[in-house]
Amino acid sequence: MSSYWGKNFKLTVFGESHSRGIGGVIDDLPAGIPVDMEGIERMLARRATGMSAITTARKEPDKPEILSGVFNGRTTGTPLAFVIYNSDRHSADYSNLAENARPGHADYSGFVRYGGFNDYRGGGHFSGRLTAPLVFAGGLATGFLESRGIYCAAHIKSITDIEDEGPDIESLTYEQAKAVKDKPFPTFSDERGKLMYDRALEAKNSLDSVGGVIECSIAGLPAGLGDPIFGAFESRLAELLFAVPAVKGVEFGAGFGITEMTGSAANDEFYMDGGRVRTKTNNNGGINGGITNGMPVVFRAAVKPTPSVSRPQSTVNFKTGTDTGLVIKGRHDACIVPRAVPVIESCAALCAMDFLLGGKKIND
Ligand SMILES: Cc1cc2nc3c(=O)[nH]c(=O)nc-3n(C[C@H](O)[C@H](O)[C@H](O)COP(=O)(O)O)c2cc1C
Repeated sequence: MSSYWGKNFKLTVFGESHSRGIGGVIDDLPAGIPVDMEGIERMLARRATGMSAITTARKEPDKPEILSGVFNGRTTGTPLAFVIYNSDRHSADYSNLAENARPGHADYSGFVRYGGFNDYRGGGHFSGRLTAPLVFAGGLATGFLESRGIYCAAHIKSITDIEDEGPDIESLTYEQAKAVKDKPFPTFSDERGKLMYDRALEAKNSLDSVGGVIECSIAGLPAGLGDPIFGAFESRLAELLFAVPAVKGVEFGAGFGITEMTGSAANDEFYMDGGRVRTKTNNNGGINGGITNGMPVVFRAAVKPTPSVSRPQSTVNFKTGTDTGLVIKGRHDACIVPRAVPVIESCAALCAMDFLLGGKKIND
């Protein structure tokens, strides 16, 4: 099934941008896990729309409603179903997309895949709105992880060529991580953040959009999570990251940059630190052979510029098979990156919780 992920934290996501609602079902959760609704709602608020001039003007309260699987604030062990109703829909804005493909969006590929039966309004099931259920699940996982001393922290690393400045993400304390999460524009440096914001606003004013990179770390993970080959921690996390619309690249540790190092520089040398095995550097992003080594898992996700730009563009009418022009209506993010930060963090939390629930599988 396409909209389903997880071996132990089994998440199904449903809905469309302009349907009655979006939501999810989480299956097979152990009973008794605390469900901190305040924490989940705080996380959803970080992804919310209408935060600034560079995010879409669509305003959704994103108030999740739990339908089943939680009793007295804890999971019951039966399927946890939740819904987030859609309220601010302007479906008429999308009528020309029934046959004219937005370049960079999924109108054409979705039409082909679903034989024309897909709900194209607001991007349908391909909409960034479908990341709200992911963040609900991520919020639940975050509570589970933090009670075990594990925390995920992400920030905007760059927008276009403007880079954030500040602490090294792998040595981030919980307090530093929390401080950046609480910012409406989550960069370490407010000054660099302002430059990025202005660049995005400039793009919007010239009827265009911009993208960027989100950097994230998972601190406090034990060594030994993951399997070699297909079950690698990297593969499973990448699967989630590429489920986030607009993510076009993922790298771990030094990533593509590792190719510019020699072996001796790229190797993370081991040492003992008060009885714990640690490495002096973390070019491998806390993972060796697909298995965590106890160092923070560090990765970056590349988010493309929002495909729906207001400039006139060339496209095809895929029903008549003719070349045509397109001017996109509707409300769109000029830059997806700030809203995607809690989404990327949620992917990290989901992956970590899924592995932790599975244990180390010795003698499996
Ligand atoms: C939080 C978030 C918000 C998004 N907002 C928009 C938007 O306003 N307009 C748009 O065209 N695409 C938006 N996208 C991206 C599209 O959904 C995505 O580019 C499209 O589905 C095609 O998928 P692909 O880019 O992964 O190929 C958003 C994505 C995310 C994660």
